[in-house]
Amino acid sequence: MTTPPSTPTSRTIRRALCPGSFDPVTNGHLDIISRAASLYDEVVVAVFVNQSKSSLFSVDERHEMLSEGTAGYPNVTIDVFEGLVVDYCRVHDIPVIVKGLRAVSDFDYELQMAQMNRGLAGIDTLFMPTNPEYSFLASSLVKEIAKWGGDVSSLVPPNVLKRLKERTGTSG
Ligand code: PNS
Repeated sequence: MTTPPSTPTSRTIRRALCPGSFDPVTNGHLDIISRAASLYDEVVVAVFVNQSKSSLFSVDERHEMLSEGTAGYPNVTIDVFEGLVVDYCRVHDIPVIVKGLRAVSDFDYELQMAQMNRGLAGIDTLFMPTNPEYSFLASSLVKEIAKWGGDVSSLVPPNVLKRLKERTGTSG
């Protein structure tokens, strides 16, 4: 009896997408990204280009801050996208979106988007409860506090803190 030739074992690469504005990335975002990186083989963090929303940082700056903040995770890559998130997922063969949920108030809108994305393209969304330490944390609040010189050093990584100080001209 002949034994069948051995074939290399192949396995589907599990990919997930973490989309967002990241203006700027906070410790809350990084918590979700790092946990997604431990669950999936590859995680793409995609900065959404929203022409109708004014931002403090340019897309390139946000990309750079994310790259610096995720340098310790070899399976995390940073990209930029414009258009529908489901189109990005389709083109890049990503079946799952990972979103952090800070509180029940996030759930209404996130559920609506998740159901729409599933209906549009069969893309699923995995909701990850935010670390309670960051349940109040939002980029918009960080920007406002930083603008008035408040201390945001516990809310963002050092590279973002430095840029916030430069951009807002404060020492906060
Ligand atoms: O960090 P944010 O601003 O909360 O991120 C929101 C984002 C970018 C994830 C969401 O607005 C989005 O997915 N935008 C892409 C456009 C899109 O697909 N809209 C339809 C969603 S059902």
